[in-house]
Amino acid sequence: MMQNSFSKRLFSGSLKNQYKVTVLGASGGIGQPLSLLMKLNHKVSELRLYDLRLAKGVATDLSHIPTDSKVLGFSNQEEDGLAKALDNADVVLIPAGVPRKPGMTRDDLFSINAGIVRDLATAVAKNCPNASICVISNPVNSTVPIVAKVLQKHGVYNPKKLFGVTTLDVIRASRFISEVEGTNPTNEVVNVVGGHSGITIIPLISQTNHKMMPKDVKDKLINRIQFGGDEVVKAKDGAGSATLSMSYAGSVFADHVLSGLAGEKDVVINTFVESPLYKDEGIDFFSSAVTLGPEGVSKIHPIGEVSAEEEAMLAECKETLKKNIAKGYKFVEDSK
Ligand code: NAI
Repeated sequence: MMQNSFSKRLFSGSLKNQYKVTVLGASGGIGQPLSLLMKLNHKVSELRLYDLRLAKGVATDLSHIPTDSKVLGFSNQEEDGLAKALDNADVVLIPAGVPRKPGMTRDDLFSINAGIVRDLATAVAKNCPNASICVISNPVNSTVPIVAKVLQKHGVYNPKKLFGVTTLDVIRASRFISEVEGTNPTNEVVNVVGGHSGITIIPLISQTNHKMMPKDVKDKLINRIQFGGDEVVKAKDGAGSATLSMSYAGSVFADHVLSGLAGEKDVVINTFVESPLYKDEGIDFFSSAVTLGPEGVSKIHPIGEVSAEEEAMLAECKETLKKNIAKGYKFVEDSK
């Protein structure tokens, strides 16, 4: 049985540390544990943390961990804090923004997070136009198109290096299917495609070893994967959304990007990127398995064979995605 590559790749010490990684929103619920995990990643030589609050404190705290990387904290209170944090970075992770409260959808976050992401993307365009940009801030289906448009405006958009982080959906799928089947989640790989919110999240159960799962069990499982985030939002009861599982997911994704940059072979992970798969239907961004290399995306894999049920889910997903993407574009077009 195929083993998922998550735990295997993470924290691998085989390569020389060489990359500058910047976390924007580094003091938040995701930002802090994500920064900790990046401090443990041996491919990172310099970790820069930026936030509107506490980034220097978090950086000083992490700097006492004896891994071979430097940690620097930057704030918006200092002159050029954001520019310094981004200067010539190789990878930029963006978990800045507000998280959901009970009853909110990811789309409800748009009004606040769209502006935050637009402004941070502008700074990325000016200070590290060649960086691989990993967008965590929700709604990812719209924030990624926002970053693309901003970079385009500055003439520095490279679609091979802009990613929406959907890894949390993939790890949830591994976990939840293993709970249903009584298997070890590290052996479960589910190809989750589409976008990152509710019905746009499509776990292709027909491609797993469990395609004979009874329909009612499968429907429940798919719903749980699509709305798994709500479980956390509800349990945290107003204090936010997934942070620890998300920081794990974010660090797994970042490690794949770094492995690609470092020239490792067969670095494959699902992510929301500008994609040719459904472009002729007006959908510019789509999440599917992608091979990563020294120049970012080197191959976008088709989603593979799907069942009739999954085909129907895909049709619904595309309708929503199209609107989410257009909303992101419009936001930037309407911004001065
Ligand atoms: P949080 O509120 O705990 O942290 C956000 C941090 O961003 C705060 O420290 C805040 O000061 C900072 N921030 C706000 N505006 C900023 C700016 N302009 N520049 C720099 N930093 C800024 O929120 P949390 O829980 O860390 O979530 C962050 C984002 O990640 C939310 O949008 C949330 O919806 C999203 N998220 C995405 C997931 C995914 O799978 N892609 C999963 C879970 C959450």
